[in-house]
Amino acid sequence: MTPVILSTQDLTAQFGAISAVDFVSLEFRQQQLHAIIGPNGAGKTTFINLLSGELMPTTGTIHYLGKDISQLSADKISRLGIGRSFQKTNIFPTFSCLQNCLLGAQSRLPHSMHFFQRASRLTDVTERAQRSLALCGLSDRENSIAAMMSYGEQRQLEIGMMLATEPQLLLLDEPLAGMGTIEAQRVIELIQALKQDHTIILIEHDMQAVFVVADRLTVMVNGKVIATGTVAEIRANKMVQEAFFADEVIGDD
Ligand SMILES: Nc1ncnc2c1ncn2[C@@H]1O[C@H](COP(=O)(O)OP(=O)(O)O)[C@@H](O)[C@H]1O
Ligand SMILES: [Mg+2]
Repeated sequence: MTPVILSTQDLTAQFGAISAVDFVSLEFRQQQLHAIIGPNGAGKTTFINLLSGELMPTTGTIHYLGKDISQLSADKISRLGIGRSFQKTNIFPTFSCLQNCLLGAQSRLPHSMHFFQRASRLTDVTERAQRSLALCGLSDRENSIAAMMSYGEQRQLEIGMMLATEPQLLLLDEPLAGMGTIEAQRVIELIQALKQDHTIILIEHDMQAVFVVADRLTVMVNGKVIATGTVAEIRANKMVQEAFFADEVIGDD
């Protein structure tokens, strides 16, 4: 097995009386695609918000490459190489695709550099933005205004913006949400391509897609992890079937 890239220890997020994430201890390994599944309200998005620094834990810790990152801001975590996409699309609608990715690429520069950008540095950033557009399959849409594109393309662009930060670990929150079959297939192929040189934590509702792309699966219910294992192990797990899956979803094809 590859080394652990990120781990959580008793990670907890409480909102009033609700423990959205309830003492979760998990390990994620380098170069694996580890999917987190579970019914609505299970705490999946909250878990990603904790990892990305959008939300501070109530208790517990997060280690990334051996370093405790639990108290770091989202900005600092992004600079360490952790990129995230949002369940709801989070692009700048009036900007072009390239401009959206430029914003992503620039966010990786140290703050002081924003004032002293030399031409070479700008070329660097532009190249990085163009590379990320190519990676997410939108190189022919450089100058298209984001709002004018299809919903599926907007979700692709959001992945492009994240890639422009050159992350090593990708946190993807329901990247297929709201997509038609053809668009979803395109994004599944994109995720499979990204798997080659990224570690991915994927939240996804579409079970068939998850079973195809995931190396490991964790099932969350009511803020708690109820099972972690390979796709075959999770499909066979009786407790998981009872707690979460309809038979037709988990059954063999
Ligand atoms: N900012 C918040 N304030 C209060 N409750 C929240 C907040 N965010 C999420 N929750 C609650 O935490 C639980 C888990 O939500 P969420 O992480 O969005 O689940 P999932 O992504 O698995 O559908 C839900 O009961 C939700 O209502
Ligand atoms: Mg969610």
